[in-house]
Amino acid sequence: MARSSLFSLFFVAFSSVLAVYFLIQISPDPRISSNLKRKILENWSICAREQLDKIHTADEFWHQFPSLTSYCDLAENIDLLGLISLKNSDEVKYALMPKNVPAKNSTFNFVTLGIGKDITAEKAFKEEANFLGYEVKFYGADPIIEDNSQLFSQIGEFFPFAIGGKTEISNASVLKNGTYREETISHVELLKFLKDNLKITEIDHLWLDAEGAEFGLFDYFYNDGPLERNGISFCQMNLEVHIGDINRKIEFMKFAKRLAHEKRFVMLKSVYVSHIRLYLFNFGSSKCVDKYL
Ligand SMILES: *[C@@H]1O[C@H](CO)[C@@H](O)[C@H](O)[C@H]1NC(C)=O
Ligand SMILES: *[C@@H]1O[C@H](CO)[C@@H](O)[C@H](O)[C@H]1NC(C)=O
Ligand SMILES: *[C@@H]1O[C@H](CO)[C@@H](O)[C@H](O)[C@H]1NC(C)=O
Ligand SMILES: *[C@@H]1O[C@H](CO)[C@@H](O)[C@H](O)[C@H]1NC(C)=O
Repeated sequence: MARSSLFSLFFVAFSSVLAVYFLIQISPDPRISSNLKRKILENWSICAREQLDKIHTADEFWHQFPSLTSYCDLAENIDLLGLISLKNSDEVKYALMPKNVPAKNSTFNFVTLGIGKDITAEKAFKEEANFLGYEVKFYGADPIIEDNSQLFSQIGEFFPFAIGGKTEISNASVLKNGTYREETISHVELLKFLKDNLKITEIDHLWLDAEGAEFGLFDYFYNDGPLERNGISFCQMNLEVHIGDINRKIEFMKFAKRLAHEKRFVMLKSVYVSHIRLYLFNFGSSKCVDKYL
């Protein structure tokens, strides 16, 4: 045998061993991996508390939040969680998919509050879920019926109102036909919406991008908030927090610090684009942990 072919034989054998070694490295024992993921989120929580508590003024907090939490994302290696990204036309949403193969008829409850005439990311999620053998039940609400109704009906059930902290009729300026106009808008209280309209107690994914309506909803997500008290749980949320006056910044600071202290939600993948986008995972819920970590 020529020396060069002996060498290539050796090279092939060596690379195979190397390949197997790396395969083992990147697909570790799922049990260990699950524990590791929990530990990552616990450590993230400790990191975030330290980082966020350094800031005491709301304006600075607003500007620093994404970089402070991104520091923890990096320091605690959250990329090991296996988050998938789902692209809308102008932003990215995140999701964790379940670690186990689905039981018969496994369906995700998926709630979009504020559709914004774009369901690209929802469709991408549906594809991922179906590929893994899951069905998705989509519920979407938006006070703007034009386009949203027709669009969202392709994937799920559309509700023509805004979701907020109370049920009321109000005037709001909405973008219609290229210009902002005053319109009367029906708001439905979140808990009422979940209990009466959707009749669900478990939400897998909540995507909230509702032009400022989130400020009426922060209280809902606390440990002893209305959702928890009513036995309604949710595992994952993509949240957009819109920029506003100083009062809104104060409210956001209170919200984010409280979440970091409650050790229930982690706030990952935050980005600053005048408003703030972030991804929340409920690692305080054993149901969510068992399903997704
Ligand atoms: C979590 O933090 C502790 C203390 O800093 C560290 O020893 C441990 O390795 C960290 N765990 C993970 C999974 O990063
Ligand atoms: C599964 O889903 C189908 C169609 O939605 C339904 O007819 C059937 O009863 C479900 N089975 C179980 C076990 O839930
Ligand atoms: C909405 O605006 C109209 C006129 O601009 C006013 O008559 C009405 O009272 C307002 N409704 C509410 C709920 O503020
Ligand atoms: C939207 O704008 C176009 C062109 O300016 C106009 O022709 C149309 O009537 C408008 N539609 C509504 C619903 O106002």
